[in-house]
Amino acid sequence: MHSTLLISALCGLAIAAPKPQIINVPVTDNLALPGILGPDDGTQSSYNPTKAAAAAAAAIQTNPVSVDKRDVLEKRDACSAQAAGAGPVPGQGSVADYLDQTNILSTTAQGAPTPSGYTSSFTNLQGSIQQIGYLIYENLPSYDVQACADLCSNVDFCLGFNIYHERNPSQDPAAACPDPAPTTNIKCSVYGYPVSAASATNTGQYLQAFQVVIAGSNGYSRDFPYPPPWSQTNFTGPNGPLNGAINAPLDNGVDTYLGNRVYNDNPYDPSLCAAVCQAQTSYDRATAASNGTYKPCNFYTAYVLLKNDVPQGTHCGFYTRAWDASYASNTGYYDGSDVYKVVASFTYTLTAPDSGHM
Ligand SMILES: *[C@@H]1O[C@H](CO)[C@@H](O)[C@H](O)[C@H]1NC(C)=O
Ligand SMILES: *[C@@H]1O[C@H](CO)[C@@H](O)[C@H](O)[C@H]1NC(C)=O
Repeated sequence: MHSTLLISALCGLAIAAPKPQIINVPVTDNLALPGILGPDDGTQSSYNPTKAAAAAAAAIQTNPVSVDKRDVLEKRDACSAQAAGAGPVPGQGSVADYLDQTNILSTTAQGAPTPSGYTSSFTNLQGSIQQIGYLIYENLPSYDVQACADLCSNVDFCLGFNIYHERNPSQDPAAACPDPAPTTNIKCSVYGYPVSAASATNTGQYLQAFQVVIAGSNGYSRDFPYPPPWSQTNFTGPNGPLNGAINAPLDNGVDTYLGNRVYNDNPYDPSLCAAVCQAQTSYDRATAASNGTYKPCNFYTAYVLLKNDVPQGTHCGFYTRAWDASYASNTGYYDGSDVYKVVASFTYTLTAPDSGHM
């Protein structure tokens, strides 16, 4: 396959390089963030992969892939008693007691073992995760990292989790009780993307005069590979995880790259790419040239792009033909002081390739 490049180089042919195949920065930066980034925004996201894939595919009919385009708050009564958390209250329960890095909350977090099948992403921070791909959270009866890992392992699409202590009010703060005594909840929140310290930015807030703070926050990301939902109907694969996104050369002078898409209102889900790839082929067939030829989508790469370690969404790159793992060389790039990294890169090949002829 390297011969394509070699021949054009040797012959000095005036063949353009293939178009850049990694998501450009402005497209990613301009995506609006979805509303629910963590437990503060609601107890559970409502991700429905079938609906998401159908919506992504339907959008192709009016906006095909191309290279050129670029609280649910519970109603509560004032001062009503809140459920007591399972965690210990450090010292006298002041904010300073909670944020003392030598307290029981910190030492528990520091001493927690990393569950098998996961990699430790950060330990003992004073912020909880807020990022895309939020799935669900639970209050745990103890700081049990394995229990939180089990929740992640049992939730489809989970790729990372956050376990932490939260200083919560024992009564619903109101004018008559602006700063109630604290209780410590142990929360486990799980996400459809890897987690990192860069996303542990929720350091709490004020409820009347009561200050919510976070202590002993640990994050863990799921190791690849792991079981489905990774295989996709009509496609062979996944092949991966690969070192990066595909960076295909010209194929006998022809650019095989069709374009890309990013989805961030969802956990990482390569089925979105599968649906869009097939919808793109239908669109291209319906709008074929008069000689009956069109560009079929026969292959895609799905990956997560991290910006400074914060996941930006499910990225899909579409191609007219398959490329093997040796072309997965697009590992990321720098843009000023920002570092972009490709992770969780997988490729899928249409099992019955489309010829691109009517
Ligand atoms: C698989 O391919 C068939 C034939 O093109 C198509 O009708 C069907 O919708 C595809 N299935 C999925 C899940 O994309
Ligand atoms: C068919 O038409 C398209 C668009 O005019 C052209 O790019 C392509 O080379 C043609 N293919 C063949 C096999 O003639």
